[in-house]
Amino acid sequence: PRIAVLASGRGSNLQALLDAIAAGDPDARIVGVFSDRPDAAALQRVPESLRWGREARAYVDRAEFDAELANAVAAVQPDWIVCAGYLRILGNAFVERFRGRVLNIHPSLLPAYRGLRTHARALQAGERDHGASVHFVVPELDAGAVIAQARVPVQPGDTPERLAARVLRAEHPLLVAVVRLAVAGRIAERGATVLLDGHPL
Ligand code: GRF
Repeated sequence: PRIAVLASGRGSNLQALLDAIAAGDPDARIVGVFSDRPDAAALQRVPESLRWGREARAYVDRAEFDAELANAVAAVQPDWIVCAGYLRILGNAFVERFRGRVLNIHPSLLPAYRGLRTHARALQAGERDHGASVHFVVPELDAGAVIAQARVPVQPGDTPERLAARVLRAEHPLLVAVVRLAVAGRIAERGATVLLDGHPL
């Protein structure tokens, strides 16, 4: 199976996928890494021939960037599209075009804390647990069906940075595990429900 990755930043989740694939499981190929920031460190983690980066902020028309991204992604013929630290909201046209094949990792126990600054908000609310979720992408931000989550304890004296680092360590195996299920054809989206081996989760 062919995997396209969308990433805006450092790309440690992408690296976790690359490492797992290099070790033979999942049996998949990263066929392109796509970024809304041409200087994203994530792009440097793959050979130049697999990199696509365009400065999204330079586009006056959001839809135009979205369409270029969608066409570039379609050109590599991915079976799955994995958003791994992709910080831009995907337009409806993109989501509808690839619906059911787009995964996102989000640093919270969804449905709690959609959007940005999840760690600071969880701390501020006095949460005892925090974590990460992998979900199918739908047009509404961070609202798609959740496939799997990793729970992480909040510890006394945590700062957003310390908590984020602890969550990130849990994200890597979580994302790899879900991508294994995906490339094995074991998960599917049916409306707001995830099917695992054909049965609702
Ligand atoms: C991760 O915490 C991811 O969940 C969030 O952004 C961060 C990206 O980290 N959306 P990296 O670029 O994979 O290192």
